[in-house]
Amino acid sequence: MLKRTLLILLTGAAAVSAGAAGPKHGAKWIIGMSQCNLGEPWRVQMNADVRKAAEAHPEIAVVFKDAQNDTLTQRAQIEEFINADVDLLIVSPKEAAPLTPPIAEACQRGIPVIVLDRRVLGDAFTEFIGADNRRIGRAAGEWAVRRLVELPVVKAGGKAHIVELKGLMTSTPGQDRDAGFREALKGQPVAIVFEADMKWLEPAARQEMESALAVNPQIDLVYAHNDPGAHGAYLAAQAAGREKGIIFLGIDGLPQEGQIYVRQGLLEASFEYPTGGREAIESAMKIFHGEAVPKEVTLRSRVFTRDNINQGGKWLP
Ligand code: FRU
Repeated sequence: MLKRTLLILLTGAAAVSAGAAGPKHGAKWIIGMSQCNLGEPWRVQMNADVRKAAEAHPEIAVVFKDAQNDTLTQRAQIEEFINADVDLLIVSPKEAAPLTPPIAEACQRGIPVIVLDRRVLGDAFTEFIGADNRRIGRAAGEWAVRRLVELPVVKAGGKAHIVELKGLMTSTPGQDRDAGFREALKGQPVAIVFEADMKWLEPAARQEMESALAVNPQIDLVYAHNDPGAHGAYLAAQAAGREKGIIFLGIDGLPQEGQIYVRQGLLEASFEYPTGGREAIESAMKIFHGEAVPKEVTLRSRVFTRDNINQGGKWLP
């Protein structure tokens, strides 16, 4: 069935419209899923969540495309979906600005678009689903402050030193996780002594952390915008024999990644960033059945720490 679907998508064959009330191409609703990359476990999980939710609905088929972390590829893949006239698009965009026009074009052509996790500019899409990255950043900042004010250096009147390893700053989660964190740090006895854009990538985070360690004899805490980044930083600190004196915070909180790092004691906390894959399929079904969906759905996040991990973490307020 999937083969036939792909064939239809690629050749445009059987492109007879069944009318607004039903799928455009034969028996199934076709969803195009544009994933910006599958390099991190979190994105593999997002696709798995989409696939699993879709399996509960035999009347839909999802066609996945992986842009391999290349913006131009993602733009081209969205164009391919538009040309194939899919029934609905789900897009998890790499960057906000360059992915805005193709998504707007899809909408203009009457294809509903669900934007997942990272935002685009403006409001030319059907629905955005994602967690509140600013709130997550703020929670991480509050956590950092609570821990750092306990340090002897701060009690003696000095400042705690922080390294911030940021996600791709042309993507909205990177911008919001940075802004929220800094909000929480305002007026506190802490200083960000090193910051770098590690573009969500573990090897880049490790390299940046090597630079941070080389120039900063005092580092008390690393805040990385995702768990791969925090892990990369941890490995760099470990190689330098300094990991024990540093607190590491990450974001994503996957059971097979961040939660394990917390259990192992590598990370002190990991803040959950839910993938929204299941919710995207739920919304798609509503859209197919002519039901209204909200413009924006905000998913809740938990924080995982060694103390709460066996209880399933703690919901952020
Ligand atoms: C994966 C990822 C996650 C992060 C999300 C933000 O590509 O970097 O680790 O939470 O994207 O969009």
